[in-house]
Amino acid sequence: MSSGIITVSYIAASALFIMALSGLSHQETARRGNLYGMLGMGLAVVVTVFGLVTNNLTFLIIGIVAGGYIGWVLAKKVEMTQMPELVAILHSLVGLAAVFVGYANALDHSTALTGVEKTIHDVETYIGILIGAMTFSGSVAAYLKLSAKISGKALQLPGRHLFNLGLGVVSLYLVFVFIEQSAAGGGTGVLLLMTLLALVFGVHMVVAIGGADMPVVVSMLNSYSGWAAAAMGFMLGNDLLIVVGALVGSSGAILSYIMCKAMNRKFLNVIMGGFGTPATSSGGGEGPAGNEGDIKPIEAEEVADMLANAKEVMILPGYGMAVAQAQHIVYEITKKLRDKGVNVRFGIHPVAGRMPGHMNVLLAEAKVPYDIVYEMDEINEDFPDVDVSVVIGANDIVNPAAQEVPDSPIAGMPVLEPWNGKSTIVLKRGMSTGYAGVDNPLFYKDNTRMLFGDAKDSVDSVLKHLSA
Ligand code: TAP
Repeated sequence: MSSGIITVSYIAASALFIMALSGLSHQETARRGNLYGMLGMGLAVVVTVFGLVTNNLTFLIIGIVAGGYIGWVLAKKVEMTQMPELVAILHSLVGLAAVFVGYANALDHSTALTGVEKTIHDVETYIGILIGAMTFSGSVAAYLKLSAKISGKALQLPGRHLFNLGLGVVSLYLVFVFIEQSAAGGGTGVLLLMTLLALVFGVHMVVAIGGADMPVVVSMLNSYSGWAAAAMGFMLGNDLLIVVGALVGSSGAILSYIMCKAMNRKFLNVIMGGFGTPATSSGGGEGPAGNEGDIKPIEAEEVADMLANAKEVMILPGYGMAVAQAQHIVYEITKKLRDKGVNVRFGIHPVAGRMPGHMNVLLAEAKVPYDIVYEMDEINEDFPDVDVSVVIGANDIVNPAAQEVPDSPIAGMPVLEPWNGKSTIVLKRGMSTGYAGVDNPLFYKDNTRMLFGDAKDSVDSVLKHLSA
């Protein structure tokens, strides 16, 4: 394949990736965005494999088919609620690939570089392995946390900032040692030592972050995996990999920043891994937030009556709606109420569920029209005019403790404010806490009623009464 065709294809693939990102930023265009991304990646792989690779093609194709098959099976099998875990473990593979590419690069003495070129090459290799190893171990730790294979609580060792700083300083020093030893034909030992430090840093950074802040970690690791890919691009002299890596790296960083703002956290603290719920945290979050006697259960029939007689209804979905797969029946109820002239809107918290956009995806799947789905910031002021707010399997995102209890682990996190409305109905199975492990004073408020049961069974029952 001529170098002209390869260059043009790479530019086309880069353009498709940019169009993919732009498409994914709106619900209406997200499908198209996905399609552009797939086309871009397909083009990039075909051109690279058949245009650039000169030997071991059979070996490479076997690898692609095997990897593609594993990816296909995993993607088919994974539940929506397990998506962040899958994303985390896939990021770890990008990191691992960067480590392998780095070592292959360092051990390949066929290119006789000298002087500044050799130094730049060594620095690229060093940084590639460093980011790759950090991304790998951090992503594995995030996967283990998200899949509850290890505790989701923040493990914050005493002096951890000093420890992190120490790791950073030693890694910086080792780059000079590596350049010196590499010039003399060695340096592998230094690389191995740095890899070990980066692996430790990756794990340490992620385990220090509290469960409720994990979404930011996933998107931050997404960003790291992008930079690891960009570093690979430099090592391999592949422009497309540099562009794609930079796109993933910067979009992941922007998403992390937006999420930090949504959760009232500091971006810099996240980067430094010194962020989240301290394991020793007490007060605010621990124990029940009210008296058992204040809990007021309600039956589905009464809920149906309240909804049918309301003018303004706000539906606030959370993780439990995803678990129960109640979104389709929720939309059936919405249609029934809209037919009766009730104004039904959906309020979406930026970190509702377990991944960015989780609720939007579920509502889109149930064909809920986009124009009745609102972001938290767009509707939080409207609650005083809302007759009935229906909280479906949500907990942390509607927890007033974030505003009322200064030492709560979620203090400062912006939340939806249904308690400012006329009445709230909460659908959940029992009185368990949500992801952050914090009890919720909303459940004990005067204008809150609890509809206990699996969310799907509950909405099903409400729908039956509405249709009766
Ligand atoms: P959560 O706070 O996790 O609360 C979900 C509630 O749903 C639970 O209290 C649970 O109570 C209830 N539930 C579970 N299964 C149910 C079912 N089948 N039927 C009815 N209810 C059910 O969810 P949220 O309010 O959506 O908040 C999300 C949390 O996850 C935040 O803390 C956020 O930081 C974190 N997080 C978010 C992300 C992203 S990016 N969105 C990623 C990782 C973590 P019962 O057991 O009593 O039913």
